[in-house]
Amino acid sequence: MKRLAILGASGHGKVVAEVALSAGWASVDFYDDAWPGKRRSGKWVISGDTSAFLKDPGRFDGAAVAIGNNAIRMKVIWQLQAAGIELATLVHPSAMISDSARLGAGAVAMAGAVVNADAVVGAGVILNTLCSVDHDCVLGDGVHISPGAHLAGDVRVGEQSWVGIGVSIRQGVTVGRLVTIGAGAAVVCDIADNLTVAGVPAKELIR
Ligand SMILES: CC(C)(COP(=O)(O)OP(=O)(O)OC[C@H]1O[C@@H](n2cnc3c(N)ncnc32)[C@H](O)[C@@H]1OP(=O)(O)O)[C@@H](O)C(=O)NCCC(=O)NCCS
Repeated sequence: MKRLAILGASGHGKVVAEVALSAGWASVDFYDDAWPGKRRSGKWVISGDTSAFLKDPGRFDGAAVAIGNNAIRMKVIWQLQAAGIELATLVHPSAMISDSARLGAGAVAMAGAVVNADAVVGAGVILNTLCSVDHDCVLGDGVHISPGAHLAGDVRVGEQSWVGIGVSIRQGVTVGRLVTIGAGAAVVCDIADNLTVAGVPAKELIR
């Protein structure tokens, strides 16, 4: 029986749990640092906080970090990797991942996600519901591609960048690291590190 520990019991965690069960994991147990104040997430019981999980990770066959914030997710992933804990890479049965694409440790592909030929997806990447990542794209560690976002071929997205819901990115574009691309944007040229952009075509959002 394959048991998965999920760290992070938010709404995103519930979706990750359902991906894991659809993908053949027999059971999931949740851990969240909001415990003991928070003890449930929907139908799921939260078993304890991260330290409770770390006391005996050997009870599980793998762990997934289901934290939406890219920086926090990667921090926890690095903590688990340093402790020698196996990170599960989870792919929903309705996702289509090319045989020539690579998914990093701890990446998750939600329902309907498509990753085409020779794409490289880093560690801890979220490929959210119905997104598409086309041929030869390269996504750095900790990237989040939100639901319904579409990346044409040869797009590069730097570490821990967040591509918002429904975004389209033109072929060959390079997005820097720690970039936020607002919901619905159309990205037609390169974006430097650390920027927040939005709109059609996407421009820096000055707040
Ligand atoms: C871009 C974003 C990060 C900005 O958030 P924020 O810093 O809280 O910005 P605010 O909501 O205060 O908006 C600031 C201004 O930008 C505009 N704006 C915000 N998001 C925008 C977007 N996606 N497209 C165009 N304009 C946007 C607002 O209308 C506002 O304009 P105003 O100053 O003229 O009123 C956020 O709006 C966004 O799009 N996040 C992505 C959400 C998402 O993809 N969720 C999926 C989860 S899986």
